[in-house]
Amino acid sequence: MTFGDNTAAAPAAWADIQARTVALGFDMPSEANTGAMLRLLAASKPGGLFLELGTGTGLATAWLLSGMDGAARLVSLDVDPVVQGVARDLLQDDRVCFVLGDGLDYVRSQQASSFDMIFADAWPGKYEGLDETLALLKRGGLYVIDDMTPQLNWPEGHQANVDDLVARLESRADLVVTQLAWASGLVLAAVR
Ligand SMILES: C[S@@+](CC[C@H](N)C(=O)[O-])C[C@H]1O[C@@H](n2cnc3c(N)ncnc32)[C@H](O)[C@@H]1O
Repeated sequence: MTFGDNTAAAPAAWADIQARTVALGFDMPSEANTGAMLRLLAASKPGGLFLELGTGTGLATAWLLSGMDGAARLVSLDVDPVVQGVARDLLQDDRVCFVLGDGLDYVRSQQASSFDMIFADAWPGKYEGLDETLALLKRGGLYVIDDMTPQLNWPEGHQANVDDLVARLESRADLVVTQLAWASGLVLAAVR
């Protein structure tokens, strides 16, 4: 095992989800080391309410669930029934509620200050509706994003979006922001 590679500590369902992800040709999967960070953060909030925007096939969902205690709850949302179907098949756990729908619509339907952590892994919550998404976090709540260092699947000109997002986060007096050169590039923020 190589130091810094947490793949060997992946949750039970992760390898099966990974195999289905490859078979499906889903090309936006979260890395194992992103998942390992999410698991750690989820474990730091017993009884927490978590939101994942962008289930994909459920790779990060599996890590989140493995860090959560029995009282914690997770809502995981995607617009694509096929990719989310993998997560629904392989992660049958009463603590997670999978929602098929648009991330921004969901964010707008929720109460302010209601979530303990948000993993924003879709366009909504990062590049769209950022302020509305951050408003859903409680004091002490955590905002987590990945894919902040250049990725092969980035659309043309995406670096400008990334730079703007980081600048917006760093400019907010109500957030403590840390940029991490870890996995695909993470930004973590905590609400003061
Ligand atoms: C980067 S992938 C998510 C990866 C996933 N978190 C994982 O652990 O592998 C982004 C996902 O966002 C979904 N998505 C795209 N537009 C969306 C929207 N408007 N609302 C919710 N999800 C959306 C895509 O279908 C895709 O599955």
